[in-house]
Amino acid sequence: MPDIGHDEILVKVHATSVNPLDIKLAAGEFRPILPYRVPFILGHDLAGVVEQVGASVSRFKTGDAVFGRPRDGHIGTFAEFIAVNEADVAPKPINLTMEEAASIPLVGLTAWQVLVERANVKAGQKVLIHAGSGGFGTIAIQLAKHLGAEVATTTGPANQVLVKSLGADVAVNYRAEHFETKLTGYDVVINTQDKATLEKSVGVLKPGGHLISISGPPDADFAKNKGLNPVLRLVMCTLSSGIRRKAKRHNVHYAFHFMHASGEQLGKLKPLLENATIRPVIDRTFPFAEIADAFNYVESGHAKGKVVISMV
Ligand SMILES: NC(=O)c1ccc[n+]([C@@H]2O[C@H](COP(=O)([O-])OP(=O)(O)OC[C@H]3O[C@@H](n4cnc5c(N)ncnc54)[C@H](OP(=O)(O)O)[C@@H]3O)[C@@H](O)[C@H]2O)c1
Repeated sequence: MPDIGHDEILVKVHATSVNPLDIKLAAGEFRPILPYRVPFILGHDLAGVVEQVGASVSRFKTGDAVFGRPRDGHIGTFAEFIAVNEADVAPKPINLTMEEAASIPLVGLTAWQVLVERANVKAGQKVLIHAGSGGFGTIAIQLAKHLGAEVATTTGPANQVLVKSLGADVAVNYRAEHFETKLTGYDVVINTQDKATLEKSVGVLKPGGHLISISGPPDADFAKNKGLNPVLRLVMCTLSSGIRRKAKRHNVHYAFHFMHASGEQLGKLKPLLENATIRPVIDRTFPFAEIADAFNYVESGHAKGKVVISMV
């Protein structure tokens, strides 16, 4: 049973979800940015019930249902209990099951942070979201539509109906079509794919547009904000130099975004979930005993929405 700090709550985890980040951490990626020391418990999403509160906790009491994404360095939701800072969680949307609520935090926060915080998407703007059928994309499409954007997305042939049902105005079948020849004049592109997709995305943007990548390469601003040392700052500056040069030539802005925990932002998503402006999209739910199968399924790269783990 974890000990809780004065500003933490002890949560009994009812459900969690698998994110590509868990798989990347298990493979030893991100070590310079997220220096976890083995052994440690993976898992970034939770929905559950508060069992105990720390001395200075003011927003929650025992018995409250919550959902959240513990901050980096304090993850570990693939467990029966976890101690979480109260600032990292929000009351669970009342209409959602624990499984549905657990599908939201990491991807919902990422969508909020790239579309609202970074790109400041406004009604009438054109937004391209790559991989609209994935865990991130299914939520990002719905949030971008809520913000009033015209939304295009890329996905395979089997997911065209799904992304349209989430509100996508244009769905490009990446297996048969080239998005870079079909789309033009976009205000924002959110990249979730590889370097080739990132580079082709530059030409889709209009001058002054924003290319935001959540799948790399990291840039110097990210390294600075993370407080990384000068050597890592230089490495990240170098890694992103090609795309930054290309973006500059086309007069568009490039930024890498790595999501952060925020109970406050989850509190802003809560009413959108409760009034069904955003609905969770769950592909499969696995019992905890089969979490290795859930990892393999996410790793296949073809999940439709989220892969959830039921803990109780
Ligand atoms: N930086 C951050 O804070 C942050 C946060 C969240 C996610 N991410 C990253 O963002 C990426 C996506 O995350 P996710 O959770 O959405 O992954 P995911 O759920 O595993 O994505 C799977 C989906 O991607 C689609 N897809 C695969 N290849 C594609 C391609 N070439 N073009 C368009 N769609 C394609 C698949 O559709 P088909 O089956 O039709 O191929 C499938 O529906 C991952 O690299 C993840 O690590 C980063």
